[in-house]
Amino acid sequence: MTLQFSLGTAAPETVDAACVLVGVYEHGMLTSAAARVDSATDGLIKRQVESGDISGKAGSTTLLFAPTGITAKRVLVVGLGSQKSFDAARFQKVSIEAARAMGKLPLTDAVSYLTEVEVPGRSNAWRVRVAALASDHAAYRYTATFKPRDKSKQPELNAITFAAGDDAQHGLDQARAIAEGVRFARDLANLPPNICTPAYIAEQAQAFAEGSDKVSCNVLDEVEMGKLGFGSLLAVGRGSVNKPRLIVLEYKGGKEGDKPYAFVGKGVTFDSGGISLKPGAGMEEMKFDMGGAAGVLGAFVAAVKMGLKLNLVCVVPSVENMPDGDSYRPSDVLTSLSGLTIEVLNTDAEGRLILCDALTYTAQTFHPHTLIDAATLTGACVIALGKHASGLMSKHDDLAAELLAAGEETLDRAWRLPLWDDYQAQLDSGFADVANIGGKSAGAITAACFLSRFTDGQRWAHLDIAGTAWDEGRKGLATGRPVALLAQWLLDRAG
Ligand code: BES
Ligand code: MN
Ligand code: ZN
Repeated sequence: MTLQFSLGTAAPETVDAACVLVGVYEHGMLTSAAARVDSATDGLIKRQVESGDISGKAGSTTLLFAPTGITAKRVLVVGLGSQKSFDAARFQKVSIEAARAMGKLPLTDAVSYLTEVEVPGRSNAWRVRVAALASDHAAYRYTATFKPRDKSKQPELNAITFAAGDDAQHGLDQARAIAEGVRFARDLANLPPNICTPAYIAEQAQAFAEGSDKVSCNVLDEVEMGKLGFGSLLAVGRGSVNKPRLIVLEYKGGKEGDKPYAFVGKGVTFDSGGISLKPGAGMEEMKFDMGGAAGVLGAFVAAVKMGLKLNLVCVVPSVENMPDGDSYRPSDVLTSLSGLTIEVLNTDAEGRLILCDALTYTAQTFHPHTLIDAATLTGACVIALGKHASGLMSKHDDLAAELLAAGEETLDRAWRLPLWDDYQAQLDSGFADVANIGGKSAGAITAACFLSRFTDGQRWAHLDIAGTAWDEGRKGLATGRPVALLAQWLLDRAG
């Protein structure tokens, strides 16, 4: 269930809601909304600040139940941390914590005054958008594969009003569209690989296309790809009974002749490593190896929902990487769609092998204005950047700057790694034009170097989302990254 969002300007002490949210800085400095609630309740908040019950620590929450003097049934006091260092990232953090705290309470509606809090360098619309997306993120539940429970559960939050004027309306509209894209991505990526197969992803893309007359979908199966010469992609898929697909979505929101922007997303529905089998511990996380596909599809959904005036294509190469008597093997030499031959030295470096053919296909078929791929490509990127930043690699400084800026704007951040030619020699092979692995050092970069061999002449950037696409652990869910980053980048292009 998606959260309903709206804007409002009623005073916090008179608003009729199950809960109002107000912010308090460290050392007991009240925001104006908190001060209004405080004076209407005869100093209730200040007394709890003095007693130490309310600390103002960033992300802390304190619930006041049915205080006399105000109309709302509850007040959730949200700690903002120190006012001096309050910034965009902190605003997002407290918005998420506030939404999490609300999720644990039996309430259906709330009015948040956190959006009144000044964030240096950011507009009202920005605050509303971030707060709405944070709320939707926290309210997300994965339910697809649990047996239906009885209906006696507590009420759930389904509507939030943000304190803001009409000038923030476009922020709210964008949030609705982006939230839909994020949910699309998370739902797809969270599904187990026995359900979310290449054919399943193709069906979801087709179903989405049917809902809009500006969107069309074309799916190539392994026979069609075989005729076209997708030798690299098909080799990876050969070990699985779940046959490969190439999923192509087109959105025509721009002028007839405008070159499209193009996204390509890695859609490995399960990465066992193949013959170069991965160790057992943690292998289950490799169901998220289609996170790039989910991300670009989610960004596509967001772009369509925003009605952006541009042309966009989204290409998803999807396979399952499994060990089998018919699997491809280390030392195989493959002929890619581009004609370049590839020596397979490790069947676990499969993502680049499906992306290279998809990148070639996208460049040849659509002549895109800009080409961006997103992929859970390397463990090395997780070592380098952890889970907070996606790796960004591009030879185009202007494009890299655009993507970094979109990441900062949405706090779906990326960090650039070099893509200098110095690294290319690590891919030398004695048996083919290029090897599929580059040795121990700089694994995220050499993976991008491999892709760069197939994007000659393209204005191209690569996002390695191996660390950012999902939260690790038993209950770790897909994050929906980099939907917000890519959607913002498109928004900036659409002007
Ligand atoms: N899907 C993995 C990358 C990955 C690993 C993502 C861990 C997230 C967490 C990719 O296909 C892979 O296996 N890469 C290898 C490449 C190596 C064989 C050169 C890796 O990173 O170990
Ligand atoms: Mn792999
Ligand atoms: Zn993989």
